[in-house]
Amino acid sequence: RVAGPSVLVLFGVTGDLARKKLLPAIYDLANRGLLPPGFGLVGVARREWQDEDFAQLAHDAVREHARTPFREDVWRQLSEGVRYVQGELHDDAVFDELARTVRDLDARRGTGGNYAFYLSLPPKLFPTVVTQLKRSGLAESREDAWRRVIVEKPFGHDLHSARDLNAVIDDVFPPASVFRIDHYLGKETVQNIMALRFANTLFEPLWNRNYVDHVQITMAEDIGVGGRAGYYDGIGAARDVIQNHLLQLLALVAMEEPVSFRADDIRLEKEKALSAVTLPPDLAAGTARGQYAGGWQGGAQVSGYLEEDGIPSDSVTETYAAMKLGVNTRRWAGVPFYLRTGKRLGRRVTEVALVFQRAPHQVFSKTDVADLGQNALVLRIQPDEGVTLRFGSKVPGAAMEVRDVTMDFAYGQSFTESSPEAYERLILDVLIGDPPLFPRQEEVELSWKILDPIEEFWAKNGRPDAYAAGTWGPPSAHDLLARDGRQWRRP
Ligand code: BG6
Repeated sequence: RVAGPSVLVLFGVTGDLARKKLLPAIYDLANRGLLPPGFGLVGVARREWQDEDFAQLAHDAVREHARTPFREDVWRQLSEGVRYVQGELHDDAVFDELARTVRDLDARRGTGGNYAFYLSLPPKLFPTVVTQLKRSGLAESREDAWRRVIVEKPFGHDLHSARDLNAVIDDVFPPASVFRIDHYLGKETVQNIMALRFANTLFEPLWNRNYVDHVQITMAEDIGVGGRAGYYDGIGAARDVIQNHLLQLLALVAMEEPVSFRADDIRLEKEKALSAVTLPPDLAAGTARGQYAGGWQGGAQVSGYLEEDGIPSDSVTETYAAMKLGVNTRRWAGVPFYLRTGKRLGRRVTEVALVFQRAPHQVFSKTDVADLGQNALVLRIQPDEGVTLRFGSKVPGAAMEVRDVTMDFAYGQSFTESSPEAYERLILDVLIGDPPLFPRQEEVELSWKILDPIEEFWAKNGRPDAYAAGTWGPPSAHDLLARDGRQWRRP
């Protein structure tokens, strides 16, 4: 799998995502030999720069954030294809200049008229850009040359705005040319959910309501809102990551086996799972939200959300969200899926845990099994990538005492291959034109349908509860599971 001749046009080159993820990922692809020698990279932004300034930004980003070692020869070859187009996005002249630039790259570097446009921009700018791409003739594929558009999240802030946004894109690009990024799907460990389930016989027989008591999906971060106040405030934890990353994880865990690994077959199964998702009947009892207050983290004192730069002191944006969902299918009826995410929590960890029912009958006396928890299969998405199976085992000694032990698979121990960064994989897939890891518009809309009623309920019901930075969220999150006689795992 190697990309063919092409140009990647990057809108929003001066943003954080470009510097930390996209530019390093492009270099890593080149370094692994996955980009053609004549590859072109064009940055578009307002800053008054020349090609060399953008190349310098890319160089610094690569030196700081690339996964693979820096090699002068790889960089030189890549940087010869780097161009910069400066100006305002509503200005026709900018797109005429962009058209000249990519055609010049075609002539000099043999990029073949294949262009991918990466919109790493606030969504309010999408209409301007796609309309300009259409006007300047850049959006239209030819038989011998493809045109694709890559859209970063957020895909709207509710169902209605997601549909509006899609209408704008749909007007210019056919569905097969639109690649919606959910970077969680680019993670090896997320793709491994399908491998674990469908390449083995061991797990799938247990993967249902007959054996699974409940599922916990956790995405915990230790960082705060950082420099992203402008984006985050008013959006909050649920729209930021549950609508996309966590519901995608839920879909991969809950879906049926696709008939093939073709994009549409996978998407269809995910859509079926998402359309079977049910909300708790009582949203007050079945959801929780919080906002971090000051506290201690990693030995340092950190400020609360309301004291962060750029956050209004009366903001009601949640930085923690948890919810209890159901999946109304024969496989999952009655099994709760508990989702939670938050910033400034105890540590950075993303995991999916299937917690199994207790054995129906215990031959061991009560004292012996006092320590025995429920069996669990934990898919460790990050940072300690792997899978853990937890089960009870006899403690060596004269008594028949049983205690929980774990069996671990760790990527670092089992594989010598290094995992590509999520964006590396996704950018390569776009350049190759391979869509299985990109959600369709239907998935986006189904996710908003799940979230909208919860957001509406929260908007009418006061402030999120405070939780101290460095803890595991507000008391209401604890209560959400305690009411069901369960508790959150401590990863
Ligand atoms: C992004 C969110 O999609 O995912 C961020 O907008 C979050 O708020 C980030 O920090 C987390 O990504 P990762 O890959 O570090 O888990």
